[in-house]
Amino acid sequence: MPASLHLAPAAEATHEAIILRALIENENGYVSGGELAKTLGVSRVAVWQQMEKLRAHGFEFKARRAHGYKITSYPSQLYAALVEAHLAPRKLKYRFTLHPTIDSTNEEAARQLSSGLTAPLIVAAHSQSQGRGRFGRQWHSADNGNLYISFAFRPQIDPARMHTFTLWMGINICELITNFTRQTPALKWPNDLYLDNRKAGGMLTEARIDSDQIRDLVFGLGLNLNASAHQLPSELTSRATTLAEHTRTPIDPNRFTAALIGRVFDAYQEFIKDSYRSTLADRWHPLDHLRGRTITLHQGEKQITGTAAGIDDEGSLLIRLPDGKLHRYRAGEVSLSPR
Ligand code: BTN
Repeated sequence: MPASLHLAPAAEATHEAIILRALIENENGYVSGGELAKTLGVSRVAVWQQMEKLRAHGFEFKARRAHGYKITSYPSQLYAALVEAHLAPRKLKYRFTLHPTIDSTNEEAARQLSSGLTAPLIVAAHSQSQGRGRFGRQWHSADNGNLYISFAFRPQIDPARMHTFTLWMGINICELITNFTRQTPALKWPNDLYLDNRKAGGMLTEARIDSDQIRDLVFGLGLNLNASAHQLPSELTSRATTLAEHTRTPIDPNRFTAALIGRVFDAYQEFIKDSYRSTLADRWHPLDHLRGRTITLHQGEKQITGTAAGIDDEGSLLIRLPDGKLHRYRAGEVSLSPR
């Protein structure tokens, strides 16, 4: 017999997401088309049409007369309603848009904030034509199974508090990746994620200040999830890696993105409350890619070489200089000397 449905559709949930949630909750059984139709207040034909639409997007189902539908396979690409379905139990409020391609998800998130939409906003894309990194560098963003996602908030906080934002998000994202994949990336101050000395991701935080307050905040993450090495440009293959290269099995982008959204939202709440600060340096420590290594910090023309010694609770990088003194640095780009 079909498994019973326990659907409590959230006010804003789409029909697609409600159907997918029911199928996920009953993965080992069948979900009755009739019950779905009743829950959604639509005809059985309308449910069948939704199922056909899902099939066209890479979902696979078994359909049995008098039993209903059973999901057997999920798409390998991001699919907005599936992310929504995975996130449903969290009952979060957000607006999520997924684009086949866009200039930059950070740019689109900023545009959505400027247009007055209610935050939080989430923008993801299968590919970006002008993906960007720190210092205006290009972020390679082909449609190859990697993740390009931005989160937009309106925090209304003192700009001085922003120094720790990317670091705090980085810690949370590394912890999430560890839980999800059993692979622990390292963090290269201030915004890079590394696996085995190769870059697996980068974060870009952009903010707009208004009357001494951070009004618009966009946090972007580019994470090399499922691309294989040959899908990366040749100049990156020796310096970049992907999570799937380490897990040796593809990562489900929809489950991962749902978990990421939940984690970023929780981390953002803690950031706003400022409740995390006393733990920042301690939680950074085990993830620190630089600690104990000889590094050079580039600040424009200025170069500072010494031994990396962690961060302080303001998010500054600590470097022990050759004279033995410990110095703090708020900004700059780090290069590593060979081990
Ligand atoms: C860096 O390593 O310098 C940061 C890279 C950040 C890339 C992400 S991809 C999603 C979002 N959109 C962008 O244009 N950039 C960020």
